[in-house]
Amino acid sequence: MTNKIKLSPSILSADFARLGEHATEAVKAGADYLHVDVMDGHFVPNITIGPIILEKLRTVTDIPFDTHLMIEKPERYIEDFVKAGASIVTVHYETCPHIHRTVQQIKNTGAKAGVVINPATPINVLEEILPYVDLVLLMSVNPGFGGQSYIETTTDKIRRMRDMIERVNPAIELEIDGGVGAQNVGTVVQAGANVIVAGSAVFNKRQSVAQNIADIRAAIRQVS
Ligand code: DX5
Ligand code: ZN
Repeated sequence: MTNKIKLSPSILSADFARLGEHATEAVKAGADYLHVDVMDGHFVPNITIGPIILEKLRTVTDIPFDTHLMIEKPERYIEDFVKAGASIVTVHYETCPHIHRTVQQIKNTGAKAGVVINPATPINVLEEILPYVDLVLLMSVNPGFGGQSYIETTTDKIRRMRDMIERVNPAIELEIDGGVGAQNVGTVVQAGANVIVAGSAVFNKRQSVAQNIADIRAAIRQVS
């Protein structure tokens, strides 16, 4: 079971003055993906990373970039992010009135396609798109910032999402993003998640990146 659970450290909490080194530390410590949070100051209040940063980061590692687009009209930038090295492109349901078309656009680039919903968006809006996607991401915080607290009602949402995935398209990866660390990753995994995003729990001043990742893995092993 344990090796089925993937870890996707979010570089949002990394030291951007030495982003390459921090990313490499996470890769060496056994990260499966690197989670890249793209924010536009419109859909979410914060502004972060564009394709030119991703392109540079691609020169230091081959790890899949799990690219979370928190931007309005994401269809304008999908090809740019894939050219820059994105391996998975995940778009918010809330930003895509024609999400079937947007998912096809992602697939046409050769990247994997993900869809993500905010904490207060019900899972049933995803049912018709599940046959077409590779990944579903459930936000367990309101998107925009690292270091927020896990919204507890997400645990039941994960269980219900896992049931729907098993029924409609069991190949889909179920990823959780926000407020997850060694203290609650066991609950999240037991509820049915198989890809874990962790930002401030991986990149912080308390411990090394390697130790933080080891602690999260140990917590996952306890429930696997
Ligand atoms: C929040 C981002 C997250 C963030 C998670 O909008 O989508 O990926 O980096 O950070 P933590 O793990 O610190 O909650
Ligand atoms: Zn994210």
